Amino acid sequence: MNDIDVLLDERRRFRPADDFRQHAVVRDPSVYERAAADPEAYWAARARELDWFTPWNRVMEWTPPHVKWFLGGTLNVSVNCVDRHLATRRDKTAILWEGEPGDRRTLTYGELSHEVNRCANALRTLGVGRGDRVAIYLPLVPEAAIAMLACTRIGAIHSVVFGGFSPDSLRDRINDAGAKLLITGDIGYRRGNPVPLKRNADTAVAACLSIEHVVVVQRTPGTPAAGAAFHAPRDVWWHDVMRHASPDCVPERMDAEDVLYILYTSGTTGRPKGIVHTTGGYLTGVAATTKDVFDLHEDDVFWCTADVGWVTGHSYVVYGPLANGATTMLYEGAPDWPDKDRFWALCESHRVTVLYTAPTAIRAFMKWGDAYPARHDLSRLRLLGSVGEPINPEAWIWYRRHIGGDRCPVVDTWWQTETGAIVISPLPGITETKPGSATVALPGYSAELLDRGGKVIPVGGGFLAMTRPWPSMLRTIWGDDARYAETYFSKWPQRPDLYFAGDGAKRDEDAYFWILGRVDDVLNVAGHRIGTMEVESVLVSHPAVAEAAVVGRQHDIKGQALAAFVTLRAGRQSSNELRDELRRHVVDKIGAIARPDDVLFTADLPKTRSGKIMRRLLRDIAEGRALGDTTTLADPAVVAGLKEQYESMES
Ligand code: WTA
Repeated sequence: MNDIDVLLDERRRFRPADDFRQHAVVRDPSVYERAAADPEAYWAARARELDWFTPWNRVMEWTPPHVKWFLGGTLNVSVNCVDRHLATRRDKTAILWEGEPGDRRTLTYGELSHEVNRCANALRTLGVGRGDRVAIYLPLVPEAAIAMLACTRIGAIHSVVFGGFSPDSLRDRINDAGAKLLITGDIGYRRGNPVPLKRNADTAVAACLSIEHVVVVQRTPGTPAAGAAFHAPRDVWWHDVMRHASPDCVPERMDAEDVLYILYTSGTTGRPKGIVHTTGGYLTGVAATTKDVFDLHEDDVFWCTADVGWVTGHSYVVYGPLANGATTMLYEGAPDWPDKDRFWALCESHRVTVLYTAPTAIRAFMKWGDAYPARHDLSRLRLLGSVGEPINPEAWIWYRRHIGGDRCPVVDTWWQTETGAIVISPLPGITETKPGSATVALPGYSAELLDRGGKVIPVGGGFLAMTRPWPSMLRTIWGDDARYAETYFSKWPQRPDLYFAGDGAKRDEDAYFWILGRVDDVLNVAGHRIGTMEVESVLVSHPAVAEAAVVGRQHDIKGQALAAFVTLRAGRQSSNELRDELRRHVVDKIGAIARPDDVLFTADLPKTRSGKIMRRLLRDIAEGRALGDTTTLADPAVVAGLKEQYESMES
């Protein structure tokens, strides 16, 4: 018996076009077999694409749940991301930046080197050294990438905290990591409004004993922002410390297994987990996957729209592209500022060739309508990527058609903060894609679908697991190794070597994976376990719908009844007729089992700050419970409004 039922059957297929295939970075499908035959040799070859001070003497050591890669090898991440490109790419643009108000900056590799070296020396002067933790709480400005790279140069461990987090979240993260120094900005911008970063930082740091200095980047032009109090000697301006710093900084020789960074991600219990990544394995994984999955060529302009506060920003805004000597674009602001075509204006004016964004953004673009991308020349784009949530087949098709001009391959990439790098994804010159499927694991990885007992499910639904360690895997949870073992390696007690990803998935007859969502969200209706993704995708396939979230609520007879929260496309009106039509649509496409009892129309869904739908809160609403923890929400007003609407609907 399958642990998760499979409902949907998506039949559309897309093969790589001949001209794309011929020029692709990875063209030879035999790479999968070669990597599977000897994964350690495969990863060692990928690691050799980096610059090492001293080679490793052992590729991998696995004593579950702990792994080490490239034992005895030494390297420096900033050397790999900057120095080694200077001979051939000194004048090539490394960072292409646009601020929300439209200000622009570019940094060549030569200029980036200068800045990273000076920042590294400035950090040393402020007392930061090898192994010390540095918290970074900045808007998406070039200084964020410079600060991260500067930390790696001197062996300091960075912990980037997304600039949209509250003072309390920042405080908890600083305290958990015991950070010595905080780098922040006077303000940030969000939809034209200044965000008081420094004020938030001051509130946080008031309760952080470990912080010795706060370095403040001046984001506002002219005189520093009013209202940002300055507490000398604790506080120092970025431009002051940089002015006095030398542009030559000898890089630390880091052990492959030295900690590179900590990145906090929310866990089920509310207390955030500090995911720990190390140096050699992480850089190997992100460098290899950036090159292969995004088919990086020398003249590409690569835009990953994530903030550096998320793992996607670490791996595919900063480390992966720069390790490959690519041009990486950073955009500070919102996609709908000043208008809903900002992304397309950016793609056009910066001649973006590869775009990597999230389903939450793609569904927002669908909701806003086709006219916005149609205003711009997107013909430079040649490859599109998606990450962060399951992408509904209809959103995938919309992305391919309206952004990719039916020309660009779409790579749906599955991975996690914990995996460090992309795990399941098409290779765009090789893989035939199916909308809604992340396809198969990349060479060198071993992902499987397992049932509750740990048995492999070749076709059907089950739990996604990794059966062998991979280089960019998290090494532990900062300060809580027991939680690490418990969270990731205890799902199958008789097999403590299996990594449990927390996601449900199905596998089709071609062994393609279809991620169904977090197993905590799986629905249980009359004994059938249903992933939220499939019902949501059917709703999104209705022409009136842009986005949908489905949750289960207690039901005396069925166990659970389904409640659907639906966002309509621009120009479509909610009505009782549409509600009935959507119910019928689900019954037609899936069957009566998935018929939603409740259908609620809403302008917005509650989302985390990184854009994932928070189904847990929707369950609270559907079951009439008091709302649980809403502190991780991007916009708490959304749930309050929904709760009111739901209650009035029931009465
Ligand atoms: C989900 C983001 C389906 C999944 C890189 C995973 C996805 C969690 C996909 C990790 C995808 C990410 N298809 N689901 N292509 N990519 N997810 O840590 O549930 O922010 O476990 O890392 O996002 O989220 P995280």
